Amino acid sequence: MTSSPNASTPTPPTSLPAHTIAIYNHKGGVGKTTVSLNISVCLAAAGYRVLLVDIDPQQSSTTVLSRTGASPNLVDVIRKQAVIEDALHETVVRNLWIIPSTRALTLLETGLDDRVRPNHGLKRYLTFSEDRFDFVVIDCPPAMGLLSLSALIAADSVLIPTTSGAFSIQGVQRTVETVNALRGGLSPGLVVNGILISLFEGTRRDQQTIKDLGSQFSGLLYRNRIRFDPEILKAEVKRAPSTLFNRGTHSTQDYIFLAAELLGRVHRHRRLPDADFSFDTVTRTITDTLALPEFTSLAVTPDGDDPLGKADRDKLSPGGYDALADAEGGRRSHGQVRKWGLAAAIFLAGMVCGGSLATWLGPDALALPLTAWISP
Ligand SMILES: Nc1ncnc2c1ncn2[C@@H]1O[C@H](COP(=O)(O)OP(=O)(O)OP(=O)(O)O)[C@@H](O)[C@H]1O
Ligand SMILES: [Mg+2]
Repeated sequence: MTSSPNASTPTPPTSLPAHTIAIYNHKGGVGKTTVSLNISVCLAAAGYRVLLVDIDPQQSSTTVLSRTGASPNLVDVIRKQAVIEDALHETVVRNLWIIPSTRALTLLETGLDDRVRPNHGLKRYLTFSEDRFDFVVIDCPPAMGLLSLSALIAADSVLIPTTSGAFSIQGVQRTVETVNALRGGLSPGLVVNGILISLFEGTRRDQQTIKDLGSQFSGLLYRNRIRFDPEILKAEVKRAPSTLFNRGTHSTQDYIFLAAELLGRVHRHRRLPDADFSFDTVTRTITDTLALPEFTSLAVTPDGDDPLGKADRDKLSPGGYDALADAEGGRRSHGQVRKWGLAAAIFLAGMVCGGSLATWLGPDALALPLTAWISP
């Protein structure tokens, strides 16, 4: 299933060379793959021709949009056993292609195969003209190794997904430092496209993280965040991008807004006239296209039906991953309920104790120290 973009692809909204965006954070498990997949689907739904490049040897994006062991892949191209055109695989999503990952990428990362060097490696292969792709999205591995460095050098901009907490903030800081270092040398045009809270639960920790990131990196933090959503966990189990798996869920809405905000940023970065960009039009186009049955050949029926089919799912998950995903969602919301329940119980206990004390000592006993405190 190998092909290049063809004539039936809708006319791209701009005719500029492909914009390459690396999805990267030094820290692992912050949502890089989830963001890469869903932002690619949303950009494709906006009418852009998108290439997702999975350079993570974990092959997570590959297992969703292609299959492990697919070839030719990036390593075949680097070893000159294939040309890049042959490594572009069609996906089940209209307008979206993928270069699949392979475990052999680890050989490059560990230096056992030195055919990719950070100063020229990927960029040479991933430079596409406007008649091929509008966006190239790179799903990076965690930590700064040869592969991530090559991806950053190949990119025009970096989107940094993050979760909450001190370690995550540290990951963002390190990533921004790396981008600044590359700007001063190998990659003078590289910019941070934005910092995204990719798993938002509205806790105080989340609010504090937003405050800290906002004060350190003013203007870089995305206004739109991706809320925690058990549907994303279910989609992962079923190997489907969640924006296709459950189009009506809140995280799909968040991804649509994020895609529109990202497009606005790229539009400004390219110094195109403001009048040519409308946030509302973009979000409407993506929403309408996601609802079109012909947008994907993935066997997903709207709003959460099972794309793999029950038999396949049971094979994957003898214990029932659905139950796990539900339990995870439930655990978090029960956690919130427990917290508020505890606060209410402490408040009530305070009221009861205060009342009993007043009854036992008499109101004057309490009024005396209170008056003394108010007017010494
Ligand atoms: N908004 C969300 N709500 C619920 N779960 C989410 C959300 N975003 C991501 N996840 C889950 O968080 C986990 C980590 O996400 P993901 O695999 O995308 O991170 P990653 O940064 O690519 O990890 P790695 O560093 O290993 O490549 C996954 O199980 C994913 O399904
Ligand atoms: Mg990943």
